[in-house]
Amino acid sequence: METRNRLAALSLLLSAVSSVCVCVTFSPEEIDPLLYEEQLLWVSGAQGQVSTYRIPLLTFTPKGSLLAFSEGRKSAAADIGAKFLAMRRSTDKGATWSPTSFIVDDGSKPDGLNLGSVVVDEEAGSVILVYSICFHLYHCKPSSTMMVESTDDGLSWSPPRNLSVQLGVKNFAPGPGFGIQKRYEPAKGRLVVCGHGTIAGNGVFCILSDDHGKNWYNGAALKSIPYNQKKKAQDFDPDECQPVELTDGSIVINVRNQNNYHCRCRVIVRSRDGGLSLPIDDLFFDYELVDPAVAAGALQKDGVLYFTNPANEQHRVNLTLRWSLTNGGSWVNKAVQIWAGPSGYSSITSLDSGSIEDRKYIFVIYEKGHKDYDETISFAKIHLYGGR
Ligand SMILES: *[C@@H]1O[C@H](CO)[C@@H](O)[C@H](O)[C@H]1NC(C)=O
Ligand SMILES: *[C@@H]1O[C@H](CO)[C@@H](O)[C@H](O)[C@H]1NC(C)=O
Repeated sequence: METRNRLAALSLLLSAVSSVCVCVTFSPEEIDPLLYEEQLLWVSGAQGQVSTYRIPLLTFTPKGSLLAFSEGRKSAAADIGAKFLAMRRSTDKGATWSPTSFIVDDGSKPDGLNLGSVVVDEEAGSVILVYSICFHLYHCKPSSTMMVESTDDGLSWSPPRNLSVQLGVKNFAPGPGFGIQKRYEPAKGRLVVCGHGTIAGNGVFCILSDDHGKNWYNGAALKSIPYNQKKKAQDFDPDECQPVELTDGSIVINVRNQNNYHCRCRVIVRSRDGGLSLPIDDLFFDYELVDPAVAAGALQKDGVLYFTNPANEQHRVNLTLRWSLTNGGSWVNKAVQIWAGPSGYSSITSLDSGSIEDRKYIFVIYEKGHKDYDETISFAKIHLYGGR
């Protein structure tokens, strides 16, 4: 009896030990990303009513699903024209995806909708998508900033709401990428959506909400130079951007350097007041992040900063993943090529339940092609410790 109890206790102890051993903690120094799985979510020209799919966005949801969005450009590949806002949803960490649903249809507008920034309100359990219509003022005016919201994990979406009523009419193209909900002070809980202006009035602008998207107001502005004047080559023209929150509560925004001011590389700016300001004191050019002027992906996960772009000074090719253990101060000298060929816009997300599974992966969505980068939109699952 005694022995049997001891044996039972011993086997209990052993199983406890072995389950502890499964819980190896992953240290950032061991990151060695592997392209683990990839599938095409959209193929241009392959589906009725859509000529070209572009501008991929990807987000987690509060319930642990993944949502992918893109513009379904109806009759041509151009940025203007009528579009569907296309969405697919995965409830199994990207293994399988729902069929495409068109959650917004702008009809036959000559200058229709443009994506966009997706922001998850984890406190309210909702997903908000901010986009623009008539951004190029092509046979229409004014440009409006619009929002749709889902409170059921992306299954259904509210009718579009016109945020320009509160923000004022101004050309504002959110993202493309994701907006953030502040997880740390200052302004914990605030929604921060950043984007850019247009032509003369370009720059990085952030809109903010402190009440879960009910009311929005204008926050930080980093204006182009010259502002409200036609640009020349090499003028300062900060454009499409991706904000991420660091664990110290500051927001770092990784910005497209439209006119190659100073370098063919990314502009980095930082807000320490929750998106109210973007001081020049905190602006720098990241020479390591060589860029052909494009929308890029960034993500902060478990204290590591990730970045994706077509890493080439001239062309949209060579989609590359980099990571930084120093909040972007330097990048680990081991970039991973995701796709050698034509590749354009990209966006990164991850699931964050705290499970071991979720700590191991990040997900990248990007424009991918053989001849042109707008041929398909691809979803890539990256195993962060898979290469070792
Ligand atoms: C949005 O609101 C603004 C400001 O009231 C208005 O000028 C604009 O026409 C509205 N846009 C749409 C699509 O209703
Ligand atoms: C692709 O990116 C890597 C990493 O930055 C770089 O070393 C390589 O030269 C790039 N190749 C091309 C063709 O751009």
